[in-house]
Amino acid sequence: MIARYLPQAGSALLAQHFEVDEGGAEAVAEALRARVAGAAALVSDPTVRVDGALLDAAGGLLKVVANFAVGYDNIDVDACQERGIVVTNTPDVLTNATAELTVGLMLAAARRLGEGERLLRAGNWTGWEPGQLLGRELSGSVVGIVGFGRIGSRVGELLRGFDVTLLCTSRSSHPEEESRLGAERLPLDELLARSDFVTLHVPLDPETHHLIDDAALDRMKHGAVLVNTSRGGLVDSTALARALEDGRLFAAGLDVYDHEPDVPDELLALENVVLTPHMGSATSRARDGMAELVARNVIAVLAGRAPLTPVYAP
Ligand code: NAP
Ligand code: GLV
Repeated sequence: MIARYLPQAGSALLAQHFEVDEGGAEAVAEALRARVAGAAALVSDPTVRVDGALLDAAGGLLKVVANFAVGYDNIDVDACQERGIVVTNTPDVLTNATAELTVGLMLAAARRLGEGERLLRAGNWTGWEPGQLLGRELSGSVVGIVGFGRIGSRVGELLRGFDVTLLCTSRSSHPEEESRLGAERLPLDELLARSDFVTLHVPLDPETHHLIDDAALDRMKHGAVLVNTSRGGLVDSTALARALEDGRLFAAGLDVYDHEPDVPDELLALENVVLTPHMGSATSRARDGMAELVARNVIAVLAGRAPLTPVYAP
């Protein structure tokens, strides 16, 4: 059962092997629970909450939950583990797409691209002005990468041409990657205090929820830029709006929000935040790669083989 929708690169592959029920755009919990009964595999995505109730509604035939995303904070992995259900995700195939969007948001926020475009489209541009829309340059700046995994380190790689100083913070050290990219590994507080740009790439879990709160924002350099393409729950959006409003931060670039698709009014009201609609992996290449990986994981598990990219496998 595909809870919502899977691009053809994955759905066609699944259809060669199985009977496939594809739900469409809406994923209302109650309807999902009714549809999932008897399924051997469930394809979820970041908008689909996979909890004990949904797993129980599926029943004992369910062998695998294959998430159409690399982040899996939408899945109760413990509940899957208790029931012996494999969980898979889609790492690597979307790393570059998400890293490129991150660099795009850094530039868009620092160079005030959204504000400039809004001014022009509103018909308020009266011509070249020496002091208009002055921004910050990425080149030569200090960039702090929070979470130096697949996407975080790819961001560091893409930034090499900008001649930045790279700092990173991560749960475990990645010495080869750090030395290859010339990134200095620091505790979070120190990274926040030294960075002109801070970009977030840790997964959302109870430990990282509101990692960037009032206190963390206070530790950041005055006039820094914050970018979040990971999960909205990493940032206290009320505290962020205050820091953007009172000028402690120069700007922010956000692709993700705490309660999607809702975007806090206090952020929508600000000029110095660039807001995109959770589109980090939204390239045809990445989405096709993700869909194919979802299908290959389902095929492997239902054939009794090991999943290709497990989050949990008994
Ligand atoms: P990843 O390779 O697992 O990288 C995550 C990194 O964060 C790892 O290095 C991990 O440390 C580190 N980490 C975990 N918890 C931490 C903590 N409490 N403090 C410090 N570091 C911590 O994952 P990824 O593929 O780069 O993806 C990262 C996230 O991006 C996903 O979880 C997802 O939420 C988000 N994402 C968003 C989009 C989008 O559309 N906007 C697209 C793709 C992904 P270890 O090395 O010790 O594990
Ligand atoms: C998207 O947000 C993902 O985690 O893949």
